[in-house]
Amino acid sequence: MKRHLISAADLSREEAVLVLDTAAELASVAGRPIRKLPTLRGRTVVNLFYEDSTRTRTSFEAAAKRLSADVINFSAKGSSVAKGESLKDTALTLEAMGSDAIVIRHGASGAPHRLAGWVTGSVINAGDGTHEHPTQALLDAFTIRQRLGSGDQHGADQRGTALDGVRVTIVGDILHSRVARSNVLLLSTLGAEVALVAPPTLIPHAVSSWPCKVSYDLDAELGKSDVVMMLRVQHERMTAAYFPSIREYSRRYGLDAGRMALLPEHAIVMHPGPMNRGVEIAAEVADSPRSTIVAQVANGVTVRMAVLYLMLGGAGESL
Ligand code: CP
Repeated sequence: MKRHLISAADLSREEAVLVLDTAAELASVAGRPIRKLPTLRGRTVVNLFYEDSTRTRTSFEAAAKRLSADVINFSAKGSSVAKGESLKDTALTLEAMGSDAIVIRHGASGAPHRLAGWVTGSVINAGDGTHEHPTQALLDAFTIRQRLGSGDQHGADQRGTALDGVRVTIVGDILHSRVARSNVLLLSTLGAEVALVAPPTLIPHAVSSWPCKVSYDLDAELGKSDVVMMLRVQHERMTAAYFPSIREYSRRYGLDAGRMALLPEHAIVMHPGPMNRGVEIAAEVADSPRSTIVAQVANGVTVRMAVLYLMLGGAGESL
């Protein structure tokens, strides 16, 4: 693995499969009476969060602790950031306390890339603006492989395999979604066929250079999908009116039970969370047996353990 994980594009197919396989090994540790491994004893992981988070921050903390690393949780709220301290000075201050890796979430796209130029340890992007969220894409890929496998391997032991031929439809606010961009990059690296579905106003201009197709008709895509990934409408990032009303958006691009019935029998429904229930996804869909939303959260811990283990040099030791 490279020193930093800034973009899903940083991972070759072999490296991405190695993360998924390592996570599969670590998932078996979760079933042991003592779930903690000594692998990263003496190492320090800093969670540097400038934006709110429930899943990502807590799962990185749990992952680091299960590998016996020390964890420093830093939230910009209540810190000297409020007095005007810069990202660089904040990071150098935390690194002076002995951090080996900084996990950063920031509202500015590119902040983790800048940080990687200032510190000597590893930098892991936990979400930067509307740019990328690579560990979310890794846990999504892990969940897809766990539930479906690659197109010709349904239900078999998936270790060593990628996602060749799996058809993934990502639906919703693509424009503001770092999850969508990282998933398009990673899933295509792993051989999946990705389709994006959204109103034209919520598709980024640069999408023509992305390795995926674009559709504006959700109903036309559902029957061809092995996976449908619903995205949150990110009201907090919207600076204009991108659709006439929530009701209209939900009618055309929301996943309710009627639409879910258009999916093939084996297909799964994903959402990175947090959800707007009743907007992009109906409660009956989110809570249905096809939904992997809770599994995605659980897999987030093992996948982030795998990332820390591989990046901080635990790879030489047996699990
Ligand atoms: N999926 C995700 O990044 O969730 P949080 O914002 O809660 O971390």
